[in-house]
Amino acid sequence: MTKGVDRRTINKMLVILPVAACTACARQTPVAPRSAEAFDAGPLADYEPNSAVRFRSKRVIVVRDQLGVMAVSAVCTHQGCVVSLDSEALVCECHGSMFTMDGDVIAGPATKPLAHFKVTLVAGRIYVDPAQQVPSKDRLIL
Ligand code: FES
Repeated sequence: MTKGVDRRTINKMLVILPVAACTACARQTPVAPRSAEAFDAGPLADYEPNSAVRFRSKRVIVVRDQLGVMAVSAVCTHQGCVVSLDSEALVCECHGSMFTMDGDVIAGPATKPLAHFKVTLVAGRIYVDPAQQVPSKDRLIL
C-alpha cells in the first residue's frame, strides 16, 4: 500500500473540484432583478457619458455620468408630478422645482432629493429595479 492519496481519490477530486468551482462562480454572476417592477433599460453601450434617458411609463430616468450609471426617480418630491429632462437638469413643470441630474434639489418648492433605485449590469444590459430604493449617490460604477 502506498502512502498519500491513491489514484481513485485523485480522479474523484478532478471531477468534484471543477464542479465546486463552477458553482461558486455562478453565485457571483450578477442576475437581472426579479421584482415585478424591474425593467431592462437597454444596452450600456447606448449610454454615452453625461447622458440621460427618461423611461416615461416607468417614471425613471437613467443617468450616466463620469463615474457610472444611476437610476433616479422621475417623481417630484414636492407633490408627485413627473419631472422632465432639460439639457442639464431635471425640471418639474408643476411648480418649478429643479434637480441636478443625480437628483439633488437646485430650486424648490421641493426640499428633498429624488429617490434612487438599484441598477444592475447583466451581460452588457442595464436593469433597473424601482422596487429597490438605494442611497442617494449610489451608482453602478463602471
Ligand atoms: S410637484 Fe414638482 S414642484 Fe410641485
